[in-house]
Amino acid sequence: MLKKDEPSSSQTQPSSSQIHFDICGIPDVELNSSLQSKGTEQQLECSKNGPRVQQLTSGMVLLKKFINLKNQVEIIKQCRELGLGSGGFYQPGYKNGAKLNLQMMCLGRNWDPETKRYGHIRSIDDATPPSIPVEFKHLVQKAIQTSRAFIKRTSNSIEDTFPKMSLKETSNPTKDELPKMSPDICIVNFYTTSGKLGLHQDKDESYESISKGLPVVSFSLGDSAVFLYGDKKEDNAKKVILESGDVLIFGGESRLIHHGVGNILHGTAPKLLVDETNLHPGRLNLTFRQY
Ligand code: SIN
Ligand code: MN
Repeated sequence: MLKKDEPSSSQTQPSSSQIHFDICGIPDVELNSSLQSKGTEQQLECSKNGPRVQQLTSGMVLLKKFINLKNQVEIIKQCRELGLGSGGFYQPGYKNGAKLNLQMMCLGRNWDPETKRYGHIRSIDDATPPSIPVEFKHLVQKAIQTSRAFIKRTSNSIEDTFPKMSLKETSNPTKDELPKMSPDICIVNFYTTSGKLGLHQDKDESYESISKGLPVVSFSLGDSAVFLYGDKKEDNAKKVILESGDVLIFGGESRLIHHGVGNILHGTAPKLLVDETNLHPGRLNLTFRQY
């Protein structure tokens, strides 16, 4: 098994007999009873305060600390197991030979950064991507429902305040600002503390999915990251910090928004999360999409 600080060329060219990148530093991660109770406490705290929701731009919603600690641990544990198995983590590259500064695995369907296409088998080792765990899909649905309810609530309150203007100028009742989505693809990225991802658009899903504005739903776990969005140039892009447990959704008018990942903020992962999972320093990100 690869140790956490032991990068090897085997990470970049896995074959079915090779072990993939381990996002955690220990062989077996068990959810112990002390965490079960802490997770429940955090969940209660969350429902007491209510999740913090921010609309960053039209169709782009940030749900702060939406995933409770217990579920964060479960997601890391499942990603670790999937990442070590067939179709697990590897360091992908582009057509020009440059490597992406992260480890990746795909669930549901494979996305090939060289061809920019989706497929059912990945060419580097002929592995079939593992399925998306059903618990992940439930959390995605919960996040979409929460975002849609927030948008509905806020647009209703604007209409109450400015009834004439909202009808004429601000809202189009036939347009769905953030449509529903059933994920059949999940791209899982692990960024070490030096990881980054340049500004890009997610535009390799089907024409139908993109033209309907079906959202991309992104889970952040572990160390925080500077997330860039809104422009293809880094200097002009807006910045928001994504912390462990945050969910970011971009669909509707923001479906093709430029976005990327700047610095990973070393040592910012919740201590309890690291204690329970032994997650390698860095950030785990899952983006769900519907093909
Ligand atoms: C991506 O754009 O595919 C990943 C974004 C992130 O890591 O937050
Ligand atoms: Mn993307």
